[in-house]
Amino acid sequence: MKLLVTGGAGFIGSNFVHYIAKKYPDYQITNLDLLTYAGNLENLKALEGNPNYKFVKGDIADKDLVNDLAKDVDVIVHFAAESHVDRSILDSSAFIHTNVVGTHNLLEAAKNNGNKRFHHVSTDEVFGSLGPNDPAFNENTPYDPRSPYSASKASSDHLVRAYYHTYGLPVTISNCSNNYGPYHFPEKLIPLFVTNLIEDKKVPLYGDGMNIRDWLYVEDHCQAIDLIIHGGRIGETYCVGGASEKTNKEITYKILELMGKDEGSIEFVKDRPGHDKRYAIDFSKIKNELGWEPSVSFEEGLQKTIEWFKNNEAWWKNIKNGDYKNYYAKQYGEK
Ligand code: NAD
Ligand code: DAU
Repeated sequence: MKLLVTGGAGFIGSNFVHYIAKKYPDYQITNLDLLTYAGNLENLKALEGNPNYKFVKGDIADKDLVNDLAKDVDVIVHFAAESHVDRSILDSSAFIHTNVVGTHNLLEAAKNNGNKRFHHVSTDEVFGSLGPNDPAFNENTPYDPRSPYSASKASSDHLVRAYYHTYGLPVTISNCSNNYGPYHFPEKLIPLFVTNLIEDKKVPLYGDGMNIRDWLYVEDHCQAIDLIIHGGRIGETYCVGGASEKTNKEITYKILELMGKDEGSIEFVKDRPGHDKRYAIDFSKIKNELGWEPSVSFEEGLQKTIEWFKNNEAWWKNIKNGDYKNYYAKQYGEK
């Protein structure tokens, strides 16, 4: 099988590329990534020289490039996005460009090259915010995005569905909860807090710390996508979650405990504007249809993640000091 993976130099995309290369060594993977601030080729070092893996630096909104790449693939797995809510609050232009215009461009390329199989990686944030006693999100939950990030992802989901209904494009969508694990960019809650604590810095907890997220170890998300691209029903959406709802405060205390720190390291800071209160996922559809459920508990996943960050200091220090941006130039000889 020939896969075009977009955003494969980011957090989940690079975990997915490793997962596929290991599980299906004969699959050919082309990784299209713009290498924005969030893209890091160091994530994929182990695959350099693998004849079944190719990296292409480029923008998913580049019509000619994407059209060319779509000609020679069987499946497009679309991760590329602007993914950080706080950045979307400061300036959402890049979110519209990549998440909306870029996704539209990929859909056009898939349609114009013989209706290629298209899997769209989306988020639970498109469903909005839950109250404490509301039932978890499922595939029938109405869309109610509330940040520029989630609005741009909702928009991309609608485009994907429209291409299925209008042109018969063979699509699937997954809406997943918060991932964590190796290669997680240290601007997000867990990697930021873990790396700050290794550096003896404080951890900035937004508001009262009582917002709730559902956490999934990234490899479990990769497995869910693997099952969907191989056995998911065309035109369907699958909700993917970790059965692991936690307040940010609970996570913070757990990390402090595992890292031998105390609450003196917490700094309560101003809340995120429009901060969604709670996300939760009912993943019974993917469980019943494809036999998927999370395999890594939050306790185990968090321990593994902390270990990974302790053992890979150079990786995140290169990000924090900006050196990771030179990696492409060194490898590919381009400034
Ligand atoms: P990330 O920010 O770590 O990585 C995004 C990648 O996309 C980067 O490598 C970046 O260089 C690339 N990219 C950005 N704009 C591009 C463009 N115009 N053209 C080509 N490449 C571009 O993101 P992530 O956390 O790995 O998320 C991946 C996908 O999964 C996103 O679509 C996100 O919405 C979705 N998702 C993320 C989570 C999560 O918890 N991180 C949960 C559910 C869904
Ligand atoms: O739910 C899936 C989504 O999860 C994905 O679609 C997004 O791409 C991904 O970034 C993530 O979004 P969140 O906003 O939930 O993740 P983040 O790590 O930014 O924040 C998690 C929670 O922690 C949130 O309630 C805000 C809070 N937080 C975050 C940061 C960065 C803090 O309290 N302090 C912080 O410094």
